[in-house]
Amino acid sequence: MKTPVEIVVTGAAGHISYSLLFRLAAGELLGLDQPIVLRLLEITPALNTLAGVVMELNDCAYPLLHKIIVTDDPEVAFQGVEYAFLVGAKPRQQGMLRSDLLEQNAAIFAAQGRVINQVANPKVKVLVTGNPANTNALIAIKNAPDLPANCFSSMAMLDHTRAISQLALKCEEPVTAIKNVIIWGNHSCTQYPDLHHAKVNDSEALSLVEHDWYIDQFIPTVQYRGTEVIKARGQSSAASAAHAAIQHMRTLVYGTAPGTWVSMGVASDGSYGVPEGLVFSFPVTIQDGQISIVQGLELNEFSLEKLRINQEELIEERQAIKHLL
Ligand code: NAD
Ligand code: LMR
Repeated sequence: MKTPVEIVVTGAAGHISYSLLFRLAAGELLGLDQPIVLRLLEITPALNTLAGVVMELNDCAYPLLHKIIVTDDPEVAFQGVEYAFLVGAKPRQQGMLRSDLLEQNAAIFAAQGRVINQVANPKVKVLVTGNPANTNALIAIKNAPDLPANCFSSMAMLDHTRAISQLALKCEEPVTAIKNVIIWGNHSCTQYPDLHHAKVNDSEALSLVEHDWYIDQFIPTVQYRGTEVIKARGQSSAASAAHAAIQHMRTLVYGTAPGTWVSMGVASDGSYGVPEGLVFSFPVTIQDGQISIVQGLELNEFSLEKLRINQEELIEERQAIKHLL
């Protein structure tokens, strides 16, 4: 039997985790021959609820679920972990922007960044899902000075798959026909879903759809999808977010297929003029666990302006939490 792999999920009693944990336990991240240990972190008042989730996990008798560790102590939760899903954070309610969460959530990521730095496996892959995800990832990176910044990434995968799905619906093609959409920038309503490099069955996506649809429908639909889900459900996306988290981490593990990329929030290396260090969603390829920002894509004036707006917003967010960096 393989040695179990240690995975931590924070916010384990929350809505996203209620989907995520069961899929991890079923082997969807590392495959059907890889046992795992689930280390579940919650705040003390949520431990009762978490006990119920653990009962359900046990009731499934998952063959791959070697052990479950439940704790409200980050030092226990992050001990030796190879994969960290940072989900635990307040979600927004109707009428809020994700950046409205910054004040409430930022401190969580400073504290957890420090503990990850001390006790996690030095090769840990950390995915920040809790909002505002890009700036929370920046905070975690800055509080984990001994780990390379590329151990951390923030989730743009849900936006990425939202974009694929909208384009596939419009073109009446299966989602598998779509490749190389890009989400640039912040996981906020200013994010830029870019179709200039996307393909539908090897045809240029923008040659198949009307320009007005791209500008007036596609872009805002993807940008405001989270808001619309909250309006409809009364709470933010959960199952789709859990799916995106697994897809994101799987891509880090298994890499991107040749000629394709995904969108991820990563610390900028200055590519496309984005200030170094800012956690910005780029098109990235992954080979042997290494994340590379796709280079050399041509950006027209429209796209450059969208990138600039995202940079400004992320710089403002960084300014608001500069005491935590
Ligand atoms: P939720 O309120 O249902 O669950 C969050 C859980 O985190 C709660 O159980 C809470 O007790 C716990 N928590 C709070 N502080 C914690 C801490 N310091 N340590 C450990 N756990 C802590 O929320 P949810 O619907 O699961 O969403 C979680 C986060 O994910 C929110 O910030 C939401 O906005 C975000 N989100 C991001 C994306 C994305 O695409 N990046 C998508 C959906 C949701
Ligand atoms: C989403 O995109 O669905 C999440 O970030 C939740 C939200 O606040 O919109």
